[in-house]
Amino acid sequence: MNPANTSVVEKFRTMDYGVAPEDSGLSFAWLDQFNRRFGHFIGGAWTAPAQGQYFETSDPSTGDKLADIAEGSAADVNAAVTAARAALPGWQALTPHARARFLYALARQVQKHSRRLAVLETIDNGKPIRESRDIDIPLVVRHFYYHAGWAQLLAQEFPGYQACGVVGQIIPWNFPLLMLAWKIAPALATGNTVVLKPAEFTPLTALAFAELCNEVGLPPGVVNIVTGDGTTGEALVVHPGVDKIAFTGSTEVGRAIRRATADSHQKLSLELGGKSPFVVFEDADLDSAVEGLVDGIWLNQGQVCCAGSRLLMQESIAAQLSRKLQARMATLRVGSPLDKTTDIGAIVAPVQLKRIEGLVAQGVAEGATCWQPDIALPARGLYYKPTLFTNVHPTSVVAQQEIFGPVLAAMTFRTPAEAVELANNTAYGLAASVWSESVNVALQVASRIKAGVVWVNSTNLFDAASGFGGYRQSGFGREGGREGLREYLEPVWFRKAPLLARTAGADIGAREPDTAAIDRTVKLYIGGKQVRPDSGYSIECRSSKGVLLGEVPLGNRKDIRNAVEAAGRAHQWANATAHNRAQVLYYLAENLSQRTQEITSRLSAVVGRRQASRELKLAIERVFSYAAWADKYEGAVHSPPFRNVSLAMNEALGTVGVVCPESAPLLGFLSMVLPLVAAGNCVVAVPSAAYPLIVGDLYQVLETSDVPGGVINMVTGRPPELLKVLAEHDDVDAVWCYGDEILCATAKRASAGNLKQVWTNEGRQIDFFSERQGEGRWYLDHAHQVKNIWVPYGE
Ligand code: NAI
Repeated sequence: MNPANTSVVEKFRTMDYGVAPEDSGLSFAWLDQFNRRFGHFIGGAWTAPAQGQYFETSDPSTGDKLADIAEGSAADVNAAVTAARAALPGWQALTPHARARFLYALARQVQKHSRRLAVLETIDNGKPIRESRDIDIPLVVRHFYYHAGWAQLLAQEFPGYQACGVVGQIIPWNFPLLMLAWKIAPALATGNTVVLKPAEFTPLTALAFAELCNEVGLPPGVVNIVTGDGTTGEALVVHPGVDKIAFTGSTEVGRAIRRATADSHQKLSLELGGKSPFVVFEDADLDSAVEGLVDGIWLNQGQVCCAGSRLLMQESIAAQLSRKLQARMATLRVGSPLDKTTDIGAIVAPVQLKRIEGLVAQGVAEGATCWQPDIALPARGLYYKPTLFTNVHPTSVVAQQEIFGPVLAAMTFRTPAEAVELANNTAYGLAASVWSESVNVALQVASRIKAGVVWVNSTNLFDAASGFGGYRQSGFGREGGREGLREYLEPVWFRKAPLLARTAGADIGAREPDTAAIDRTVKLYIGGKQVRPDSGYSIECRSSKGVLLGEVPLGNRKDIRNAVEAAGRAHQWANATAHNRAQVLYYLAENLSQRTQEITSRLSAVVGRRQASRELKLAIERVFSYAAWADKYEGAVHSPPFRNVSLAMNEALGTVGVVCPESAPLLGFLSMVLPLVAAGNCVVAVPSAAYPLIVGDLYQVLETSDVPGGVINMVTGRPPELLKVLAEHDDVDAVWCYGDEILCATAKRASAGNLKQVWTNEGRQIDFFSERQGEGRWYLDHAHQVKNIWVPYGE
C-alpha cells in the first residue's frame, strides 16, 4: 500500500507506514577517509599489519564490501602489548582525577559522534538503526560517564588495590561498540592499559573509537586495537605480557581460554552464552509480556547472549499467549537495518545464518512445531523470519542449545516450582525474565532461578551501575557496577607476595591401616557423619621430628563424589537467614575455644607450640570475624535511569571444593572455609597435607556446633588427586585452591569442563596470621556471586 494515497483514518486502522531510511553518507565518507583500508591502532598510531594481510568486512544486509581490515598476527599482538606495557607507568602515574577526565572526554566524544557510530554499527552488524541509535550508543555513553565517576573515586573506594596491568580484551560481534565500552571503561578507570580485539565480522566501530581516543588526547598505548579473527585472539590470550584476559563470546572459546590461561597468573573473566528463560505466569499482563518478548528474543535478531529464547508459559494461559504472540509476530517488519521502521534486521554473517537454519531444522526433525509469520523478506541479504517453536520437549536441541537467532522455543508449566525447575534446566545461567502481577510470585521465582540477571515484568534492560554476568556455564565475573571493577583490580599485597616452593604432586605413601601402633586414627567427615574411606587405605601423619602421630584415610574419587552429593543435599544452608548462619558460627567459636588446650597440644607436634597457640587464638578470632560478616556482607540497590530499581543480591556459589594450605593446618583451613560457609555455600574441603589429622579436631567441633550435616565435608588424601576430582566434577560450582603454581594450574585447567569459578593463591604465599591478608572482603567477594534483580518501581 502506498501511504501517500491513504487517509489518516485508514493509516490509523492499518498502522502501515512507508520506508524511512537513515542517511549513511557521512559514515561512508568516514570509511573513504581511510580509503576503506584500516591498519591496527597501536601506540596511538595506525599501523600496517606485520604480515601485510587484510580481510574484508561487509554489510550483511547487502553483502557489499565495506572495507579491508588488518589481519592481526602474533607480531602485531606483540607490538600492541609492548605499547600497552610502555604506556602503563605513565597512565598509572596520573591522578585518579586525570584519568576520570579522559573517561569523561571519551563519553562526550562518543556522544558528539553518536549518529555516525550508530550508522557504522548498523551497516557492519546488520542491527536495526533504531537499536544502534537508541540502545547501543546511549549505553556506551552511559558506561563511560559512569566509569569516569569510578576513576575519580578509585583511591577512596578501593584503598589497597591496584590495577592488574596490561589487559587483553576479546569481544564478539553482537554489540560491538557496547562490548568495547563494557571492557575498556572499567579497565581504564582502574588504571590498566588495554589491547582489544574486536570480532572479525564487526571491527568498524572499534576502529572509529580508536580515532576518538586520539581526538581526546588519550596517551598513546593506553588503548590499542588489533583486528583479526580467532587466531589473533589466541595470540593475545597466550601472550606472556598480558596480566588479565576479559572475554565475551561463545562457551567453547571461553573453555579454550580457561585452559590456555591455566598455567599463567592471568586474571580471567568470561561472559559466555545463554539460553535464558522468559517465564509468564497466568496473572501476568499478557500484552506487556508479548511486547517483552519482542524485546527479549527479537532484539538484535536474537543474537543476544541473554535473549529470552525459552518461553515458559503457565498452562492455563498458553493458548491465549501463543495466539497473541503470533498476531504480534505477523506485524514485525524484517528488512533494511538502515530503515528506521525496521524491527528485525540482518543476521551478521552467512555462517551464523546457516547455523540458525541448521538448528531450526533439527528442532523440526525432533518433532517440535515450527511457526513463522507470513511476511516478506528482502530479496538480498542475510535475513531470517521470527520463528516460534511450540510442542518443544525440554531436552530437545531447540530448548537446550543457544541458537543465537530470532527463534523462540515455547514450553509450558503448571506450578511456580515447575517453572523454576524448567528455568534451571540448562547448563547456562545468564539471565531470566519473570512476568507476574504478584510481587510474591515474581520475587520468589527470581530468587530461585540460577542466573546473574533477572528482570521482573521487563527484559533486556542494562545499565552501567548494575553488574551483568553469568552463573554456571554462562561464565564468571561481572561487567558493570562495583563488582565489575573488582575484575580489573588486585590487592597490592597479593601482587607482591612471594611464590611458594613447588612441591605439588609429592608422593604421600599409602599403606594398610596400622592402628595398633599409633596414637590416633581419624575418619572422613561427610554429610555430618564420620565415615570410612572407600579405598581401605590410610596415610601416615608424622610430627616435625618424624614421630608417627596418627593415620588419616586415603580418600579417593568415590569419597569426593559422596561428599559432593552430601553438600548438594545441604544447599538449604544458603536459604538460612544470615542471622542464623552467624549464630552457628559464633557457637562454633565457642566450642573451639573450649577445646583450645587439647587441639593446641596436638597441633604443637607439627607446627611447634608457639605457632599452635597463635593458630588457636587467631582461629577463634577468625570465626568471630566471619560470624560478624555473615549478616554484613550485603547487596545494594541500584537506581538505573529507568522506572526500575535493580537489587544486587549477593548469592552463594553452591558447592565449593577447597584445597587448604599446608602450613597453617587449623587457621588456613578456617580462613578458606569460613568465608564460603558464611556466604551460604557448602564445602568439600581437603585439609592440610602436612597435618590432615586436624580433621579429627574439626569434626568434633562441628558436631557440637549445629553446623548442619553436609555444609562442611572433609576428605583427607592426596591433594592433587582430590583437587582434580573436585575441579572436574559437574556438581561442584567453584574451586578454591591454595598451593604452589602447579597445583593452582591444575585447579584452573581441570575446571574448564563446566567452567566453574576458580580462586587460587596463584602459587603465592598468603600470611594467614595477618588480618589484612588472611580475612575479609577479598575472600567474601570470591565467595559470592551477584544476582541483579530488576524490579519496576515508582514513576
Ligand atoms: P566466538 O566465541 O568464536 O567469537 C567471539 C570472539 O572471540 C571473536 O572476537 C573471535 O575472533 C574471538 N575468538 C575466536 N576464537 C578464539 C580463540 N581461540 N581465542 C581467543 N579468541 C577467539 O563466537 P562466534 O564464532 O562468532 O559465534 C558462535 C556462537 O557463539 C554464536 O552462535 C553464539 O551462540 C555464541 N556467541 C555468544 C556471544 C555472547 O555474547 N555470549 C557472542 C558471540 C557469539
